[in-house]
Amino acid sequence: MKILVVGGGGREHAIIHKLSKSKRADEIYCAPGNAGISELAHCVNIAATDIAALVKFASDNKIDFTIVGMDDPLVAGIVDEFEKNGLKIFGPRKNAAIIEGSKAFSKEFMKKYNIPTAKYETFDNYDNALEYIKNHKLPIVIKADGLALGKGVLICNTMQEAVEGLNLIMIEKKFGASGNKVVIEEYLTGPEVSVLSFCDGKTIVPMVSAQDHKRALDNDKGLNTGGMGTISPSPFYTEEIALECMEKIFKPTVDGLNKEGRTFKGIIFFGLMLTDQGPKVIEYNARFGDPETQVVLPRLKNDLLEIFEACVDQSLDKISVQWEDDSAVCVIAASGGYPESYKKGFEITGLDKCAKTENIYVYHAGTAFKDSKIVTNGGRVLGVTGKGKNLEEAAKTAYDGIALLNFENMHYRKDIGKRR
Ligand code: AMP
Ligand code: GLY
Repeated sequence: MKILVVGGGGREHAIIHKLSKSKRADEIYCAPGNAGISELAHCVNIAATDIAALVKFASDNKIDFTIVGMDDPLVAGIVDEFEKNGLKIFGPRKNAAIIEGSKAFSKEFMKKYNIPTAKYETFDNYDNALEYIKNHKLPIVIKADGLALGKGVLICNTMQEAVEGLNLIMIEKKFGASGNKVVIEEYLTGPEVSVLSFCDGKTIVPMVSAQDHKRALDNDKGLNTGGMGTISPSPFYTEEIALECMEKIFKPTVDGLNKEGRTFKGIIFFGLMLTDQGPKVIEYNARFGDPETQVVLPRLKNDLLEIFEACVDQSLDKISVQWEDDSAVCVIAASGGYPESYKKGFEITGLDKCAKTENIYVYHAGTAFKDSKIVTNGGRVLGVTGKGKNLEEAAKTAYDGIALLNFENMHYRKDIGKRR
C-alpha cells in the first residue's frame, strides 16, 4: 500500500515509525514531514493545510490511504474533500472534527448529553461577557472559541487578569477570529489525564493513558507550551476511573455524535481532569495528541495500519487492541526562548548515538536539513522517548538519551516522569 501522512511534527514521526513496521505499508509519504521523518518516509513539500494540493498529490500518485495527524486540516474539512475525490482517508469529517474546532460547540454538546465538564457560559457580546466575569468567583477560565495553537486558554487568578484576558481575546483579537466567541468556565482542579481513543463511529477503544506537561519550566512553572514532556501510563488513571470514564464520558460522546448525525471515525482525544466530583472533560481533540502519541504508540503491540483501516471500515470491534505492560516517558528538547521567540538553524549533535541505544527513540518535531546536517527548525525540536518496566526506569532512559544530544540553547524540563 502507498500511504500518505499529513503533518510534520513529533506526533507524525511517531505515527510513521509505527506504520513503517506494518508489512502492508510498502511506501510512506509525508507532507510536509521533517528531517527525522525523511529516514522513514518520502517527504513532500506541501503544507498540511493546503488541502487542494494534497488531494492532487494523492490522486496523481495513486495513494491508497491517507492519515491526518494535525487538527487544522481536519477542522477545515480535508476528509470530506478526499472522500469527494474517491480517496480513502483516516480522520473525522468536518462535521465531527468540530468537537475540537469549536469550544462553544463542544461545551453545548456535553451539556446536552450530560457529559461531565466544567460549568460555563458562551458569549459573542463583549459587554455581556464582562458583566458575567465581574459576578463570577475567581479563578476563572476564559477560552477563545476556535483553534489557537493550544494558546487560547487563559486561567485568570485576579479580576484584572480576567478583564485583560477578555480584552486580549475579544477586542485585540490576539487569536484572530477564534476570539469572536468566548467560553467562560469554572476553574477545576485535579490531576490531568489525556486519553486518546480509536473510534469507528460505532466502537470506541481507548488507548493507554498519558499525562502531558504543558508548562515550559520544572514544577509546572513558566508559560504554557504545546507540551514539554509526557508519561504513559498516568499513575492517577486507575482501572476504576477508566471504567467510569467509559460509561459517563466515552460512550456518551460517541452516541451523542451519532445522534447529531456527526459520525466520528478517527481519534478522539479526551483531555480529562480527575476532580473530587469525578472525571470531567476539559477539552476534546479530534486527533492524536502531541507529545502524547510519542509515549502511547511505542506501547502498542498491534499493526497500526490495520487499526486505522478498521476505523474507516467500521470494523474496529473485530480487532483486539493490545498494549505492552511497560512505561514510556518523552522529554522534549526545545529551542531556548520557546514558547516565545527563539532562533533556528543550530546543528543537532548526538542523534547517531541515540539511534544505537536500546529503548530510546528520538522523534523529530522541528528539524530540517542544512548542508546535509540536521539543524533545529522549530520551538519544539526533538522528543526523546525512553521505555522501561516502570516510569522511573523509562524516565532514566529518556534522560540518558537527552544527555547524548546537544544544540545551541537547548532547553528541556528535568522533572518529567520523576516522583515529586
Ligand atoms: P486546553 O487548550 O483546552 O487543553 O487548555 C489548556 C490547559 O488549561 C489545560 O490543559 C488545563 O491545564 C487548563 N484548563 C483548561 N480548562 C480548565 C478549567 N476549566 N479549569 C482548570 N484548568 C483548565
Ligand atoms: N498535548 C496536547 C495536545 O496535543 O493538544
